[in-house]
Amino acid sequence: MDHWTDGYVTELPYSVNHFPEMAPAHLNLALLHLGLASPALDAGFTYLELGFGQGLGLNMLAATHPQGRFFGNDFMPAHVDAAQALASQAGLGNLGLFQDSFAQMLTRDLPPMDYIVLHGVYSWVNAENRSIVVALLHKLLKSTGVVYISYNCLPGWSLKAPMQRLMSEFAQAQSEGSALERFHAARELLGALGEADAAFFTHNSAARSMLGEIQRASDAYLLHEFAPQGWSPFYHTDVARDLAAADLRYAGSAKLFANFPAWSQTPKTRALLAATPDAGLRELLRDFAAQTQFRRDIFVRNAEPLSATDIDTRYRALKFSLWRPRASCALRCQTPIGELQLDEEAFGALLDCLESGPQSLDALIGASGLDATSCVEALNMLLCLEYIGISPSESQSAESRERIQRLNRCLLQRVRAGERISGFASPVAGAGIAISCHDQLFLSAQQDGHTGAEALAAYAKQILDVAAKEGDAIVLAQLLHEARNFLVYGSDFYLSLDLFPARM
Ligand SMILES: C[S@@+](CC[C@H](N)C(=O)[O-])C[C@H]1O[C@@H](n2cnc3c(N)ncnc32)[C@H](O)[C@@H]1O
Repeated sequence: MDHWTDGYVTELPYSVNHFPEMAPAHLNLALLHLGLASPALDAGFTYLELGFGQGLGLNMLAATHPQGRFFGNDFMPAHVDAAQALASQAGLGNLGLFQDSFAQMLTRDLPPMDYIVLHGVYSWVNAENRSIVVALLHKLLKSTGVVYISYNCLPGWSLKAPMQRLMSEFAQAQSEGSALERFHAARELLGALGEADAAFFTHNSAARSMLGEIQRASDAYLLHEFAPQGWSPFYHTDVARDLAAADLRYAGSAKLFANFPAWSQTPKTRALLAATPDAGLRELLRDFAAQTQFRRDIFVRNAEPLSATDIDTRYRALKFSLWRPRASCALRCQTPIGELQLDEEAFGALLDCLESGPQSLDALIGASGLDATSCVEALNMLLCLEYIGISPSESQSAESRERIQRLNRCLLQRVRAGERISGFASPVAGAGIAISCHDQLFLSAQQDGHTGAEALAAYAKQILDVAAKEGDAIVLAQLLHEARNFLVYGSDFYLSLDLFPARM
């Protein structure tokens, strides 16, 4: 394996992702739920992403936040080139991308940051790089700054981590072949062990289902998830201790449900946690209760607690908007502690109001007939379910809207070429919106002038067929069914997000 990568495997570029939890408005919302102050966004802020991968998320944020200054690094040339190409084509002047290792970043002259984020990095680099990451947080974060850090965690990975170890040991023991060939062989070995009914699998149903996931994984995921030699899952308390050295304390989760105990913990677990004063231990208990395998933590340096009045004022300044088609916001829904039936009248009224665009709490109270407390509670549930999100308080300027749409047009070209991406940026939502692969293809078909379900489905099939791997069966009838649903339930919603310039 290459020396310059410190055991990270750089043979293939990673998948093209954005994660809505990393948006500044989302992090601020989580902190508001936790009763903590956060950086103001309207007057300008600084934001750094460490190890940005393909840089889609960073490009989307820079495009939708012209008042922010964005920075990021990644040491893989292919990643930086792809991210830079998007930024240049979209004309983003507020994004600085560095082809730097973490160690090189430490010597760069950068402004103090309001936000530093890293997703899919901390568990995937070696101990030396983890300590450099902590040094970067220590050096670059403002005294009121916010950190988002995700990692594979224990005990959720305890039954599965041995599979990573076996694949890694096997791949390293091979003297020939690319990293991908060695990991394909390692995966086959795991599969053979599964077929031989090894006790590891027969005693461990979670490992058996993980084996299925590994067998279905893309090549990029296989290498970036399992091949790094420093790969390690952590207990939350390990990470909290590491980050204490950067003068940071744990605030809460970027997955909003976790910050609402009544919606994410059973009554018995809640009682156990309530009787545990130590914050680190509480998180550890929570991870045992939920068998958590991936955490998205928010750490803060000096976040001030907010008074009830401050919380109310800040909540009333927010604008809420639909982040998926109204028809896909099921009222029978899944929460971390089971299925829930949301009240048809209250939630239906709110979702109906939101269909006409971003709205404030006061507007929603007026239009839905709900009182303030019920309205806030219902909005928080819709936010936890990721049906809605936070939109900018002011509409985007014409130039900013144009930049966002230019970015989306570059992304469309990649979709047409058969690439998988996670979504498009919306000037209305002021964020990157997750959109399914097939809906992206239908949007692309519409942009190319196609209309009608048959034409949309045929267009999507043509692109999927070219990009298909052996064994992928792309069924036209299924695409046709989806295209019909898209035209009835999705098309107007995507139009309302203002993703592309209106067609003449
Ligand atoms: C698993 S990927 C995650 C990428 C991205 N954050 C995402 O979630 O899509 C880890 C990223 O960290 C980068 N990386 C690993 N070690 C690094 C180092 N020492 N310095 C800079 N970047 C590094 C890799 O190139 C890769 O893009």
